[in-house]
Amino acid sequence: MGRYYVTTPIYYVNAEPHAGSAYTTIFADALARYHRLVGDETFFLTGTDEHGQNIMKVASERGINPQAFVDEMSDKFKQAWTFLRISNDDFIRTTQPRHERVVQHAMDVMYKNGDIYLGTYNGWYCSKCETFYGENELVDGNCPIHHTPVEFVSEESYFFKWSKYQEPLLDLYKSNPEFVVPNTRLNEIRSFIERGLKDISVTRTSVPWGITVPFNSHHTVYVWFDALLNYISALGYGEENNEMKFWPGVHLIGKDILRHHAAMWPAMLMSLGLPVPKKVVAHGWWLVSGQKMSKSIGNIFSPYDLANHIKDTVNVNEDTAVDALRYFMLVAGPQKDDADLSLEALWNVYNADLANDFGNLLHRVIGFMKKKNIESVHKTTGGRFSRISEVVADALIKYRSAFENEDPQGALIAAMSIVKFLNDYQDKEKPWSLSGDDLNEMLYAELEAFKVVTAMLSPAMPSVSKQIGETLRCDISLLFGETAAFSPDLNEPPLFPRYKEEKVSSDTEPNVSETVTKKDEPAKDEQKPLIEYDLFSQVDLRVALIEAAERVPKSDKLIKLSVDLGPLGKRTVVAGIGLKYQPEELVGRRIIVVANLQPRKLMGVLSEGMLLAATGEDGLPNLLSCDGNPEPGTRIK
Ligand code: MSP
Repeated sequence: MGRYYVTTPIYYVNAEPHAGSAYTTIFADALARYHRLVGDETFFLTGTDEHGQNIMKVASERGINPQAFVDEMSDKFKQAWTFLRISNDDFIRTTQPRHERVVQHAMDVMYKNGDIYLGTYNGWYCSKCETFYGENELVDGNCPIHHTPVEFVSEESYFFKWSKYQEPLLDLYKSNPEFVVPNTRLNEIRSFIERGLKDISVTRTSVPWGITVPFNSHHTVYVWFDALLNYISALGYGEENNEMKFWPGVHLIGKDILRHHAAMWPAMLMSLGLPVPKKVVAHGWWLVSGQKMSKSIGNIFSPYDLANHIKDTVNVNEDTAVDALRYFMLVAGPQKDDADLSLEALWNVYNADLANDFGNLLHRVIGFMKKKNIESVHKTTGGRFSRISEVVADALIKYRSAFENEDPQGALIAAMSIVKFLNDYQDKEKPWSLSGDDLNEMLYAELEAFKVVTAMLSPAMPSVSKQIGETLRCDISLLFGETAAFSPDLNEPPLFPRYKEEKVSSDTEPNVSETVTKKDEPAKDEQKPLIEYDLFSQVDLRVALIEAAERVPKSDKLIKLSVDLGPLGKRTVVAGIGLKYQPEELVGRRIIVVANLQPRKLMGVLSEGMLLAATGEDGLPNLLSCDGNPEPGTRIK
């Protein structure tokens, strides 16, 4: 039994959790759950990064004080992680006194040992990533990450002697080539350091929303210096008699914050006389239509929307939908390279792995037992089906080695290889041709293997695994140790119903993807299930003024509208209203638009919103509008 400490980045609270932050958190959760499964003493930390110029700016735009703002936003992260069944042991916030104390203590230690000194900072700063850039790092004069303007900062500042750690850092990478994975990122950070490290400004006089520097109250601590220390403040660094038994840990991050974690943080730790992290695991980005998914671009997928989409489309409960989303993210996510996030990718993985392979196998075995009136099967010593246990043992080795190397994707592929094998085996061995002891032995071997697979999948799908444990009436919290007999619940409905694709003409379905599923929708006049106000309030309905309209080529129904949404700017909305309206009669009308739907391409034209219409008796749409003449962009409540 060992000890395992895993962390996520602490997320900025200027934006709500999205599929990107959800990915890192699910990734870390799977690692933590695996280590608990094999009996390691595990500590899993996540949290929120709440200081800095950008947070202050966003709070003031919202017209509330920064503390109230960060309290509200930090709660949203906690709620999202509860929804995604994240099993973190602690949640650190950089505005907590326990963290502020540690930051001040660490600053003191570094000031006293001469690694922090006073100077003047002149240079470029991007407040969105709260990072200083050299002139040569800017792209067309803009931030290389956000592509937005940077500001020139010139002020008195304390500096950290980063340059002093150039050689020790290069030595670290040399002596521990696994310090940063994957290897491409190690090379990236090594060459960054080889270009020469300069001392870095670590305090600001112009950013009041930060932790006061203990030896000069005119300064606050640079937000990254503050944030990185969360990994040890949560462990109680500096407390008397606290040896921080979990330190050092594994940091999971996105590739965008490699420099801070693989170069700045270890240097800070060296200065504090503490061990460097065990490992920095840097994954890639989720892309949407080829671009990084991010708030500034506005192409965000929310984890709630994705899980609810699964839930509603294939009619499963929330536990199952969340687990399917977690599984998809871990198997198809940007673990090494960037990956595309789309509903198509999601349903492909769902059908192939969860519906056709995993769910189907359980359904087949249990269905067969039910048909044959076999209520229970028990362990025997026949050995006729030992091939199954050999395959399981082999997959378990691969699985463990993958998880021990922070590779959940590899681990899940190993687990699924057993499922694929069993499905083939079931076809080849034809259980319906067996009887008596042979049949008992085969079904037992299959259920035992299925039980192990379920345990193997539990770090990714904790709720589904628990549910299967209840169906099989056995303990799935163990990877090893055989169950004496199985008497499963034979009346369980299928686990992952297949997603059935139905081509819907893009002409008739404005703003939904061109291929959608028609699931069991309530009958035409039936009321949809009740929802909370919070859910409704997420729909951003606005008044839009139509400025131009033209037909989409080769379509009778689709009209491309250019609409003015006031403060939200001008947009293109493609709508299936062409049988009812002529483009020229639409210009100048004020309509109602859902402004925050994911943009979709309809007949090759990107639609950035959906208008509201009611179908008349003739089956044609009638546009909704508003009394009076509210300004374009007015919110509808
Ligand atoms: N607050 C800093 C981190 C401080 S850690 C001491 C920060 N926060 S962040 O909110 O911007 O979150 C960054 C992390 O969110 C990324 O490193 C990554 O883990 C995750 N992601 C954000 N967008 C992402 C994608 N589009 N794709 C995958 N993950 C991404 O930086």
